[in-house]
Amino acid sequence: MEQNARLYQDLEKVLVTKEEISLKVKELGQKITADYAGKEPVLICILKGAVVFFSDLMREIDLPVTADFMAISSYGSATKTSGVVRVLKDLDHDILGKDVILVEDIVDTGITLSYLRSMLLHRGAASIRIAALLDKAARRTVKDLQVDYVCFDIPDAFVVGYGLDFDQRYRNLPDIGVLAPRIYEK
Ligand code: PRP
Repeated sequence: MEQNARLYQDLEKVLVTKEEISLKVKELGQKITADYAGKEPVLICILKGAVVFFSDLMREIDLPVTADFMAISSYGSATKTSGVVRVLKDLDHDILGKDVILVEDIVDTGITLSYLRSMLLHRGAASIRIAALLDKAARRTVKDLQVDYVCFDIPDAFVVGYGLDFDQRYRNLPDIGVLAPRIYEK
């Protein structure tokens, strides 16, 4: 059996198909192209979940964008309680005076993006907008976080695929699916 077919067996269902994703990402690329006409935004990919979305999205933006990458600490009790996010890999380039677009796979509590947003504003970015593939609004604890671009609003389910993982797996699935509880409850 093919590897991906085996991974699909671990899904309860497919939530968003690759065709739906592709259409939305194209639309978002066009919107960003229009919104940033005449500008050269810096696209920042928040590793690792956003890489697939990031690579598709940047190719749908018809502007001279630049790309940079940042890795931050993952879910942990300290992060949840303090709202402080640890930077594991910082940007390679200065963002002073730049128009920044933070690209994320999913907004959950909002802690990660809220923290990154204020950190990058503090470094002197001219503007910061957030582009998220998925928004799980039911899980939000940061109430005043503005997510400027969202491809899909999703329910509070454990989703994997198109960059999103469980235990580092499933990132390579082309669709976004809901993981069967028997997998993460093991
Ligand atoms: C996910 C996602 C965001 C963060 C969102 O990353 O990519 O960075 O969690 O959650 P929040 O809104 O509650 O802060 P994860 O820790 O799963 O790491 P990964 O991207 O490397 O998979």
